[in-house]
Amino acid sequence: MGENEKLRAAKSAMVELDITTSDVLRIGLGTGSTARHFVALLGERVANGFECICVPTSEETAEQARALNIPLSDLDHLDRLDVTIDGADEISPEMFLIKGAGGALLREKIVAAASDRMVVIADASKQVETLGAFPLSIEVNRFGLMATLYAIKQVMQYFEVEPQMSVRQTKDKENFVTDGGHFIVDACFGRILDARGLSTRLLNVPGVVQHGLFLDLCDIAYIAGSKATHVMDA
Ligand code: A5P
Repeated sequence: MGENEKLRAAKSAMVELDITTSDVLRIGLGTGSTARHFVALLGERVANGFECICVPTSEETAEQARALNIPLSDLDHLDRLDVTIDGADEISPEMFLIKGAGGALLREKIVAAASDRMVVIADASKQVETLGAFPLSIEVNRFGLMATLYAIKQVMQYFEVEPQMSVRQTKDKENFVTDGGHFIVDACFGRILDARGLSTRLLNVPGVVQHGLFLDLCDIAYIAGSKATHVMDA
């Protein structure tokens, strides 16, 4: 699936901005190649006079938004957002997500949870029957890395998964560092049959800051295939 589908999904989701609010619309801006299309389209709207205030989920998205003169704020100044539009790595029939390939999962989850509505935009390759073929990103504290890896391995064994995981690296073979200053562990589950149980067990590991399972957060998804875009909602 290519950029055309991502762009079509982003275009379809523009309808989500047609919300009547007493104030300017507060929008969370996702991260990744699909969200990038949405931010570009929003930039065109803003240039044509559309009023909004946006909270980006990464430094990368903030940079793109600034270049397009999209007004930015943060969750130090705003306590709630009206809507967040973001991409996903996988989306299941119950609209559970795996996110985090871009390394922005912590801010993405904070922003999504602070939003009245989370809108996902994706190409059809992201739609799956069961989550887990895509590695699950787990954001971990830098302190105690080996101990945290050991504890994550135990969680994988509890779910009878052969523990295969790696600490994400940059092109220069350094550990990838998130915007929050943490590392990312990519864990291969294959099939995640108990997403809620896995979420709880991972969050019980003290060194785990957050993971890329987004449960009960997504309200609607615009999924673009090669011919048409369809909508999944709760
Ligand atoms: C960023 O951390 C991710 O959660 C992205 O939103 C997700 O990986 C989807 O990215 P693409 O739109 O680039 O596939």
